[in-house]
Amino acid sequence: MLCLGIESSCDETALALVKDGKLIDQVLATQIDKHALFGGVVPELASREHYRFMGALYTELMQRNNLTINDIDLIGVARGPGLLGCLLVGLGFAKSLALAGNKNIIGINHLQAHLLAAGLETQLKFPSLGLLVSGGHTHIYNMKSAKEMPILGHTLDDAVGEACDKFAKMLNLPYPGGALIDKMGQSLVSQGTEINTKLFTRPYIKNDNIDFSFSGLKTAAQTYLKANPHLIENGLQVKLNGIESASDELKAVCASYLYCIASTLSLKMERAIIKYKDNGFKSIIVAGGVAANSFVRSELKILADKYKLELILPALRLCTDNAAMVAYNAYLLGKDGYHHDLRLNAIPRGQIIPDDYLQN
Ligand code: KG4
Ligand code: ZN
Repeated sequence: MLCLGIESSCDETALALVKDGKLIDQVLATQIDKHALFGGVVPELASREHYRFMGALYTELMQRNNLTINDIDLIGVARGPGLLGCLLVGLGFAKSLALAGNKNIIGINHLQAHLLAAGLETQLKFPSLGLLVSGGHTHIYNMKSAKEMPILGHTLDDAVGEACDKFAKMLNLPYPGGALIDKMGQSLVSQGTEINTKLFTRPYIKNDNIDFSFSGLKTAAQTYLKANPHLIENGLQVKLNGIESASDELKAVCASYLYCIASTLSLKMERAIIKYKDNGFKSIIVAGGVAANSFVRSELKILADKYKLELILPALRLCTDNAAMVAYNAYLLGKDGYHHDLRLNAIPRGQIIPDDYLQN
């Protein structure tokens, strides 16, 4: 079964081909540089860029693999959550292809696709405890199957990626700064310097739930940086001259901030393991852009080892937005006969994605 995946939910335009669960090829155009000028994704600009890139990327992918639409069995397209205008570009393109080629189409939940992406490299086992950490979402899932994933916990305000990017922004670093503050923090840890784990207090843990709130941590970081303006100035030097100009003090603050986030995620995941122990989770699956973060990866490894659970982390290139995960999710659902028709709708962020698959 050959599946074409189309991803355009935020600021990456991507297409990929997955055959019988194996990635064949993928193409991706990122808009990060364009949005960096504005300090965040500008939805209208993002939609226009998707519209500009989509057709050319499709042609490149298909020509490179000597394929035409006739060779495709199922077209998978990210239907949400995401920026509505952006999603509509992907859906419009997918529907045109489906109509022109008389092909089946399936709308893919972008968040579930992130969680399943690791299946391209390793055998996923269900049920698993899923942690999705991206720029827009921080969710804990009971991954019962590739199709059924009830949410067990979520953020009440900022997503983890947002907390990272806003911290980076306070330091004058370019958007999205998550990966850069990770690099700075990690460069200190890899020298063997101990992290100051007391600099920031883990937010929203004095309760017994498995939800998150990162807005307080952001304010604490803002207060700290205001009291230490030389760190903000150093951040500007890093922006202009690169990471080599970061002081050890700035690297240490980045490490403390990221450790605080990672250990908060780990603490809530541990609560979920204990609260839902009767589910018999077989592994912990971490996904989304922030799954690339080295502090998150190492804290969750410690947790997984403690409970003798397998830790599944997608390769870094599968953590951020891509179409391989969309094509793979389409394959997982398509092989069980699921699909949509041309009534398929885009679902913007904040709305529940309906379970409205049709089945052969
Ligand atoms: O999943 P993703 O590519 O896009 C969506 O939000 O759907 O995630 C992007 C987020 C951004 O906030 C980015 O700063 C963050 O992932 N990110 C990281 C790292 N790499 C990407 N945050 C912290 N450490 C990283 N290494
Ligand atoms: Zn994403």
